[in-house]
Amino acid sequence: MKILVTGGLGFIGSHTVVELQNSGHDVIIIDNCSNSSTEVLDRITSITGKTPAFVKFDLREKVKVQEFFTHNNDIDGVIHFAASKAVGESVKDPLLYYENNIATLIYMLQELQKKEKASFIFSSSCTVYGQADELPITENAPVKPAESPYGNTKQIGEEIIRDTCRVQPQLKAIALRYFNPIGAHPTAEIGELPLGVPANLVPFITQTGIGMREELSVFGNDYPTADGTAIRDYIHVVDLAKSHVKALERLLTGANKENYEVFNVGTGTGSSVLQVIKSFEKISGKSLKYKIVDKREGDITAAYADTHKANNELGWKAQSTLDEAMASAWKWEQKIRDI
Ligand code: WQD
Repeated sequence: MKILVTGGLGFIGSHTVVELQNSGHDVIIIDNCSNSSTEVLDRITSITGKTPAFVKFDLREKVKVQEFFTHNNDIDGVIHFAASKAVGESVKDPLLYYENNIATLIYMLQELQKKEKASFIFSSSCTVYGQADELPITENAPVKPAESPYGNTKQIGEEIIRDTCRVQPQLKAIALRYFNPIGAHPTAEIGELPLGVPANLVPFITQTGIGMREELSVFGNDYPTADGTAIRDYIHVVDLAKSHVKALERLLTGANKENYEVFNVGTGTGSSVLQVIKSFEKISGKSLKYKIVDKREGDITAAYADTHKANNELGWKAQSTLDEAMASAWKWEQKIRDI
């Protein structure tokens, strides 16, 4: 099938392109390269032997979105990653996030609803749950008021898709609520390339391990958890990528039960910050320098997924352990720093 991947040169997008190609799909990528580079095309080719088609433009340009679908009327499915995703940045520049994450989604859906049929996978986030009342978190957990404009764009995005699918039965969609993606492709050809100082834990750990950062700041150790540090569900990015192929194929084969569905994508296991540090030290053999500082505003105590719905209905289950994911992140860090 011919699959459009928006943001396909990015961290999760590029890993998903690889898995789509491995599953026999033809891929075309749209990316504005604001947080990625066309070099990733060569990296993908080196992994799969196939170069995805690529078109560079910004999905905020509505006319270009319309022209793209006019010239590419044979697209069977879309996986929509293209969006801004930095929580802190979204607080400082909300309109950038509402325009880039919502307007682009609307333009995409306006084109898809013209097609006789369309399958659409939306990149959502566990952030929609806020601090869930019960753990592990199921898809029925209530969506809570967003803690950031970024999180709000995911909530609004899900509602826009839900409302559109309700009146456009030829449009089928799945929102995948990611937990915490980490790691890199085992070949170390593709991985996470955070611009500037990483906001996320694992890239900060590997950059500290490689000597790029002086030490890791652990944001709080007085949470009501076993070791006092916050808990998250860290999922290998390759496992996450594979869930997109499974979700897309559910729609392409008509196996979906509703024409809008939501799935949590995590491992089902929570790990604390200190446990993640220990994982790094175990796989790297290095001691990580860190200090305990104040909690980061907006952070929740704990989040990890109940993955039964994805396991049973998508036929997908995360395979990699935290150590395996961390080892892939460390191999990638060493590779890109030529160590
Ligand atoms: C993980 C844990 C921090 C950095 C965010 C987004 C979410 C998704 C993933 C896009 C927390 C602690 C972190 C550091 C630390 N992004 N930490 N020192 O905040 O769970 O989720 O990224 O979809 O939507 O909200 O991920 O990696 O930033 O933090 O102690 O230098 O590590 O407090 O407990 P988070 P994270």
